[in-house]
Amino acid sequence: MSEKILRWALAERVEHLIIMVLMPIFIITGLPLLKIEWFGWMVTTPITMDLFRTIHRMAAGLYLAVGIFHILYHTIALKRTKIIVTIKDIKDSIKLIKYYMGLSNEKPEIGFHNPTEKILVYWLMAVWFMIFMGISGIILMFPSYFASWIHEWALVVHDVFFFLILFVLMFHFYMSTLYKEHRPLLEGMFTDGMIPAEFAREHHSLWYKEVKGSNQ
Ligand code: HEM
Ligand code: HEM
Repeated sequence: MSEKILRWALAERVEHLIIMVLMPIFIITGLPLLKIEWFGWMVTTPITMDLFRTIHRMAAGLYLAVGIFHILYHTIALKRTKIIVTIKDIKDSIKLIKYYMGLSNEKPEIGFHNPTEKILVYWLMAVWFMIFMGISGIILMFPSYFASWIHEWALVVHDVFFFLILFVLMFHFYMSTLYKEHRPLLEGMFTDGMIPAEFAREHHSLWYKEVKGSNQ
């Protein structure tokens, strides 16, 4: 049997599964709130607009809970992470995007994270876009506490980031399922957390050397 190495621990896989389920819930329950003229057909008895609102808000609460767990997991539980973005990540991302687009054959040597996923999917979408969604969402939730212009701006922010999230999600979905080269990573996220060592050696060579170094 080919050698395997651990990529994602159980807690990380469960976290990913929860946010992966929450995103479609946000999107589906957000659509009739966004444009009832187009998505009114979704609201049929016993499903009401209030039910959509309640589920949307419960999803927000759960996302916040996952966020708090995530921070505690990487601080108190001391699961070390390389999630901080470095200059090398930015340079490597540019090289990787050129490589993915077929504009270059040069593939940078990377560590644990794929830098484009780290920047776009983790920091931009899962952290910053969701912070904007959360703040604007809270303003939408309590309109009587805010001036009407703040409420209007919150709606604009919530709508703009809704489309940005959809865009990044499509990129993430493509890179993790349809982009053949990355298929072994699905095993790591959706089965037992392990990926073939050979894949790590080829695609995440710096991380592979680190793991091998620490095992000697
Ligand atoms: C549509 C279904 C999805 C699939 C098939 C999928 C697949 C994956 C896979 C295979 C990985 C592991 C990549 C690696 O090992 O380097 C991953 C990582 C990740 N996914 Fe997803 N995912 C999905 C949805 C989502 C959603 C909805 C979110 C966020 C709201 C999300 C956020 C993340 C994040 C933050 C990472 C870690 C990226 C990193 O830091 O390197 N994913 N996903
Ligand atoms: C993270 C925390 C979030 C909170 C607290 C939140 C809260 C809210 C609230 C209170 C509303 C207004 C509902 C109403 O009409 O009474 C709303 C609308 C909406 N939400 Fe969220 N939301 C969040 C995240 C998201 C996410 C991640 C998405 C999709 C990716 C999303 C998509 C939408 C859409 C499309 C609308 C309709 C906006 C409009 O009327 O133009 N929300 N949200």
